[in-house]
Amino acid sequence: MSQSEAPIALDIDQLSVVFDTPDGSLSAVNDFSLAIRRGECVGVVGESGAGKSQSFLAVMGLLAANARVSGQARLGTEPLIDRDVAELNRFRGVKLSMIFQDPMTSLTPHMTVGEQIAESIIHHLGSSAEAARARALALLEQVQVTDAPRRLDQYPHELSGGMRQRVMIAIALACDPEVLIADEPTTALDVTIQAQILSLLATLKRERGMAMALITHDLGVVAGIADRVAVMYAGRVVELGTVHEVLKAPKHPYTAALLASMPRIDDSGTGPLPAIGGQPPNPRRLPAGCAFGPRCAKADALCRTDRPPLVGPGPGEGTRSVACHHPLQGTHHSREM
Ligand SMILES: Nc1ncnc2c1ncn2[C@@H]1O[C@H](COP(=O)(O)OP(=O)(O)OP(=O)(O)O)[C@@H](O)[C@H]1O
Ligand SMILES: [Mg+2]
Repeated sequence: MSQSEAPIALDIDQLSVVFDTPDGSLSAVNDFSLAIRRGECVGVVGESGAGKSQSFLAVMGLLAANARVSGQARLGTEPLIDRDVAELNRFRGVKLSMIFQDPMTSLTPHMTVGEQIAESIIHHLGSSAEAARARALALLEQVQVTDAPRRLDQYPHELSGGMRQRVMIAIALACDPEVLIADEPTTALDVTIQAQILSLLATLKRERGMAMALITHDLGVVAGIADRVAVMYAGRVVELGTVHEVLKAPKHPYTAALLASMPRIDDSGTGPLPAIGGQPPNPRRLPAGCAFGPRCAKADALCRTDRPPLVGPGPGEGTRSVACHHPLQGTHHSREM
């Protein structure tokens, strides 16, 4: 079965997240739709504050108390939005797992590493304590934790940041999830370990058909592991397509700017990166038209008044969707990844 025919593992449909704040409501995620198939990895990229984490925290049912969410998300046929906690916990951390952006706050301080990993294996898979400890050890070794047998009996505060991040990954993988949401999973790790973890995730995707949403700032990581990429700007997906299409020839001016701000492999490493000019819009006061308009060289009167919808590909046009009144044409950009 080719990947484009594989069943949809996670289906996110017109998801929106609004936060109530003392200064008024803040629109963090707007009409976010994305379907991820079995065995597929979708990279999710965009500047800080674009709504990447909140989109997927909504899917997990883990938004802050001041959030209002609308739209739907499904794990297979199982609806995820507005479910009660007891029902969500039947598949959260089991079939649907998340590696959180901040590993320091998401580990339990008073439980050993071994206990934390084994807990869900015992609870959800019904394993014996002994079997769960053996699986915990194997997982720690898989995520390249050094000295794994000793680590099992250590507490999170005894570990370095990089080790904690790997423990988080082991916990997320403990029950062999169907869908993994990985929010900047390798940012605290050095390049060699990062490559090993990404290769482990790629293997789980290929061999077990795990579906993955990989949130990252690093387009090099996207190029290395993702099949498709979703580019987010001001809470919306502005471009979606295969990694090959989008990174070779971006159609949204924002995607092109993101690519241009990436360090080149042949850069000598001196001098600052070309940053994208201007600032993302204030999510409390989004502009009426295209949210990227104020920073876009191609913006005209239409862009200022009418928000461009995300338009899917026409017949024979590949898989690309783009939300722009004046999309870039042709092989505008090429870069060795
Ligand atoms: N509890 C909250 N109350 C109000 N606003 C919030 C809350 N949580 C998040 N936000 C806002 O929601 C917006 C989207 O945040 P989100 O965490 O999804 O960004 P992100 O794309 O993951 O950024 P980063 O790359 O920095 O992780 C931001 O403007 C953020 O300040
Ligand atoms: Mg985030």
